[in-house]
Amino acid sequence: MSYAIIGFGKIGQALAKAFARNGMEVSVATTRDPESFASAAAAIGPEIIPKKLAEAVKADVIFLAVRFESHPDVAKALPTWQGKTIVDVTNAYGVPPEELGGQPSSRVVAHAFTGARLVKGFNHLGAAVLEQDPAVHGGRRVVFLASDDDGAAAEIGALAENLGFSPIKLGGLSEGGLLVQARGNSWGQLIFKDLVKFDR
Ligand SMILES: NC(=O)c1ccc[n+]([C@@H]2O[C@H](COP(=O)([O-])OP(=O)(O)OC[C@H]3O[C@@H](n4cnc5c(N)ncnc54)[C@H](OP(=O)(O)O)[C@@H]3O)[C@@H](O)[C@H]2O)c1
Repeated sequence: MSYAIIGFGKIGQALAKAFARNGMEVSVATTRDPESFASAAAAIGPEIIPKKLAEAVKADVIFLAVRFESHPDVAKALPTWQGKTIVDVTNAYGVPPEELGGQPSSRVVAHAFTGARLVKGFNHLGAAVLEQDPAVHGGRRVVFLASDDDGAAAEIGALAENLGFSPIKLGGLSEGGLLVQARGNSWGQLIFKDLVKFDR
């Protein structure tokens, strides 16, 4: 299984730190030449591989860590996303709901990435929290996952565990997934709730 993070800003770098912490290789890409962010990648660890966008999207699992407004540009990188899993980390805060046809933003993203399996997740915490070691007081920091594809949710759940988090599956994008969606100028009820799960 190969991994990529598209977008290497605050949240992309927070995700990259989780991969590096666990010795897992991940490609990272932006609109820029990979050399321009090679030193930022190297500062996180040798597991972080800067690539051109066209190369990075060859990965099996792709974290979308760009502004919501930029997702159509990323989607143009491939004619079909069949066989790939997109993890939608975007928050469409401030985007008028009518611009989304009243749909949850993750459905709009799923539509743009034709053929992909989409999991909404890793988006409910600020980057300054997400970048921290998720092992907290003997428990594990929670990430929420929502998908209309149970297999994709299970796959990303296993990845979240490998990255040290405790995943909680919320069900479909228009079901529990609404709890981690921004809508217009309001946040879903679980956004910014920094929870830790303790196994007994
Ligand atoms: N910051 C947070 O605490 C936080 C928390 C949860 C979720 N989120 C969500 O995560 C997403 C990213 O937020 P951020 O704060 O990390 O933003 P950011 O710091 O502005 O980073 C955005 C990144 O996306 C890249 N990018 C822009 N357009 C692109 C394109 N067409 N193709 C490839 N890369 C592109 C940018 O690089 P170049 O412009 O140089 O190409 C930059 O590396 C947003 O949707 C945000 O709502 C953020």
